Amino acid sequence: MKIEGFSKLSKIEKIKLISNTLFNNNLLLTDKLKTFWHSDNKTQKLFDEFSENTISNFHLPFGVVPNVKINNKIYIVPMVIEESSVVAACSRSGKYWFDRGGFKAKVINNEKIGHVHFDWTGDFDEIQTLFADNIDKLYLEIESLQSSMKKRGGGIKDIRFKNLTNLEPGFGQIEITFDTCDAMGANFVNSILEAVGHKFKRIVDRKLIGIGELEIIMCILSNYTPDCLVRASVSCPISELDDNSLGMTPEVFANKIYKAVRISKIDKYRATTHNKGIFNGIDAVVLATGNDFRAIEACGHTYASRDGSYQGLTDCKIEEGIFTLTLEIPLSVGTVGGLTSLHPLAEFSLDLLQRPSANDLMQIIATIGLAQNFAALKSLVTSGIQKGHMKMHLMNILNHLEANESEREQTKIEFSTKAVSYSSVREYLGTLRNYQ
Ligand code: MEV
Repeated sequence: MKIEGFSKLSKIEKIKLISNTLFNNNLLLTDKLKTFWHSDNKTQKLFDEFSENTISNFHLPFGVVPNVKINNKIYIVPMVIEESSVVAACSRSGKYWFDRGGFKAKVINNEKIGHVHFDWTGDFDEIQTLFADNIDKLYLEIESLQSSMKKRGGGIKDIRFKNLTNLEPGFGQIEITFDTCDAMGANFVNSILEAVGHKFKRIVDRKLIGIGELEIIMCILSNYTPDCLVRASVSCPISELDDNSLGMTPEVFANKIYKAVRISKIDKYRATTHNKGIFNGIDAVVLATGNDFRAIEACGHTYASRDGSYQGLTDCKIEEGIFTLTLEIPLSVGTVGGLTSLHPLAEFSLDLLQRPSANDLMQIIATIGLAQNFAALKSLVTSGIQKGHMKMHLMNILNHLEANESEREQTKIEFSTKAVSYSSVREYLGTLRNYQ
């Protein structure tokens, strides 16, 4: 059945319709979904209006990582993630590097980019010359749109014409680069691009009559921002890598990490998992601070393929007895505007981070990506990943099987040295329960 006018219904009406259509008119559905509504109506309205057709809230854990020392400043970093062991792994990494000089991070540049994509049927030299002759008019057209961004020290950095007919007949772009200060700046960028697109079309239609037809295909920012780049690194003498948990010499450990990173450079199967681990950390902070994790992921994966093959995003170096692990990644994030100031917990996250600038936040996010990668690699090349994972997974299984406090404690002891699986835990709980 096709549903008409769904968006016009009230929240309760929407739930009722779903209940009638799919849940046999189960009246408990409303109660269940209501359980997750915020108790304060005003806050709930705010959440409802972040999106459309909202019928409830989807809760995710909000965790924190203490002891994150970046450029000698210590942070408690918020992470929103549902995967067990990610926050724990980051916390281990934070603590480990705290005593080994901490993390170093540096913003290399912070430039956003967008395009007016067009199709031109005439001679490209003609339209390119017209563009160059009218660049001042294009700037004038967008002056009012960028005046407040200019006051904050940002605005348009460059506008250039690109003949891309080598890729596709008739294809060209006006490429604009921006400094959006502490904002992610998507709305600002898109408004400027659309204004430039319209103005350029008007100029071409007037001046190049009979020479060709200009069609503006679309005006849109690019989420690929290779010039919005940040670098985070950790480094220490190999001998200092020891922490009594390696089960091998620090030299062997350093070498294994080096090789693991190398494998991520030459094998796309490993590269994907390697980067997934990095994004475990990155996405969780991006989400906690009200930024757009889809944009960050899309950009990161394109960056990982920039040399023509998909590769791991971290680099490892062992030189003159010094071990260094580095993450260089484009991160286009904001600390003002959008959800950052609307979502109460995003706002809290930024308070927790002591009100960072966009550049500070880039450094924090890259650091957490690196911390996550180091923790994953450390586990992988020493004890293996399952030991830590299964410990956390045990909690999920115990929740699923509705274990009480005493059952939890006994099960944790029982499985401290045994492999965890759903069936083995269920079996063990079964024996415990039969004894009671
Ligand atoms: C699991 O979510 C992430 C890891 O697989 C990352 C990695 O293998 O590097 C542990």
